[in-house]
Amino acid sequence: MADTMTMRVTRYEPDLDHEPRTQDFSIPLRDNWVVLDGLNYIKDQLDGTLSYRWSCRMGICGSCGMMVDDEPVLTCATFLVDYAPGPIRVEPLANFPVVRDLVVDISDFIERLPRVSPWLVRHEDEPVDDGEYLQTPGELAEYEQYSMCINCMLCYSACPVYGLDPGFIGPAAIALAQRYNLDSRDQGAADRLDVLIHPDGLWGCTFVGECTTACPKDVDPAGAIQRYKLTAAIETLKSYVEGPS
Ligand code: SF4
Ligand code: FES
Repeated sequence: MADTMTMRVTRYEPDLDHEPRTQDFSIPLRDNWVVLDGLNYIKDQLDGTLSYRWSCRMGICGSCGMMVDDEPVLTCATFLVDYAPGPIRVEPLANFPVVRDLVVDISDFIERLPRVSPWLVRHEDEPVDDGEYLQTPGELAEYEQYSMCINCMLCYSACPVYGLDPGFIGPAAIALAQRYNLDSRDQGAADRLDVLIHPDGLWGCTFVGECTTACPKDVDPAGAIQRYKLTAAIETLKSYVEGPS
């Protein structure tokens, strides 16, 4: 195996470039190096102006997502040897505006996320003297998978619906809504349904399923959305049968 590899990186400096361009760098090809190591090598040894985000280097912070050979991945969890002999292409996450080089602007998601109240909603609090809101292991298992989301945005990058219609609230926001709906301590499901039961919400999803394929944390946003659709359909039917409450 060769001991170097070409990394083909998208560069974009808004003050200088009319459109993104690519730049090739030769980086060491080591068994234990991930794509992020290659980018750090470029930044440290070849071109300190290269811009990209990362923090934890262990698949937790969710900030290092990029397109690698057209797939949205966490660059800290993607090994270079899997792309040998290269060249390996590294681009900013698809479906988001580019700020510079490999840095994208996710403020659209950040602004919209609070609409689904991604926190525990309580309409009636129990008296403090009654102690904690206890949960059984079974109740925890109901939502635990959906609580693993690290907001990495890979599912948005993989989602063709979000790519075509940025008004779609998107997979992670719906999966997070479901995470709280299924929490036995939460009372906000009806409020969230009011927000999500429209074409830009739940029903915008056409079940392509690429979000679940891309998700590095096995959150299964596609599954969460389909389960939520079933709940929404049942609630709608109930409201027709029972009339307005
Ligand atoms: S659902 Fe998965 S892919 Fe989407 S933001 Fe959360 S962790 Fe990332
Ligand atoms: S650097 Fe934190 S998830 Fe990759």
